[in-house]
Amino acid sequence: EGDSRVNFLKEALHIAREAGSVIANVFQETKQNVQTKANCADLVTETDKAVEKLIFDYLRTKFPSHSFIGEESVSDGAMQCHLTENHTWVVDPIDGTMNFVHMNPNVAVSIGLAINKQTEVGVVYAPMLDQIYFGVRGHGSFLNGRRLSVSKSITDISQALIATEFGSRRDESVTTVCANIQNILMKHKVGGIRCTGSAALNMCSVASGAVDLYYEWGPQCWDVCASHVIVHEAGGVTTDALGQNFDMMSRSYICASNKHLIEQLVPSVTQISLAQ
Ligand code: IPD
Repeated sequence: EGDSRVNFLKEALHIAREAGSVIANVFQETKQNVQTKANCADLVTETDKAVEKLIFDYLRTKFPSHSFIGEESVSDGAMQCHLTENHTWVVDPIDGTMNFVHMNPNVAVSIGLAINKQTEVGVVYAPMLDQIYFGVRGHGSFLNGRRLSVSKSITDISQALIATEFGSRRDESVTTVCANIQNILMKHKVGGIRCTGSAALNMCSVASGAVDLYYEWGPQCWDVCASHVIVHEAGGVTTDALGQNFDMMSRSYICASNKHLIEQLVPSVTQISLAQ
């Protein structure tokens, strides 16, 4: 096959744009067909399902030997969330579904390709923001054609702008989520905390330099696969929530413009168990 990552990127960009137009076309419809998944904060719409099918039908035709992991197919039991060494497309049709049903524009199509379990190609398209991010390992990452680079100047967490999320759990873990935010604000007196409602867009904001660090327990591989390579190619670092090696399947992530910020964050936050 040679280095066909450029071809993989081309196809991912094509179908991300198609998916984005489907989302944009229904965005103003006040009543999305919403169903709850794990709880009232974990939603799926007919559009999530239709967009995932659109993306997989296209990529399966182009790359029949590849494997696929998609948020909605895993959620409804049609697919296993199991990463192998095979070329695997890891897809979130709408990252930020809660935003989508509220007509908040922070929504993104996230299409990543892992080869030998490593992310090689990533496309994150936010149609309502007119932002298309992409990255290819070894070839850089870009926003609307402009080369991305993480913020270079901030190595002290007290000066950092941090993104995190409250996530979709509504149990006692919320206490720890809030205590961590309180600790970061009071101990480090950080510049600010932002929540966009999309893990993929939070990570892309690290890549563009719009925030310095993002952390969260709870997202899934499809929320982070594509943006992981985009951050890496912009010069950023992604780890698990202990500051150890990034594992796409770990559901705990820290992503920052440099490792110094991660080293300062880790002792200030209490780990959240994802069992349950
Ligand atoms: C969610 C978003 C959100 C994050 C959750 C994710 P979804 O993805 O990325 O920001 O807090 O952990 O599940 O469900 O909208 O695809």
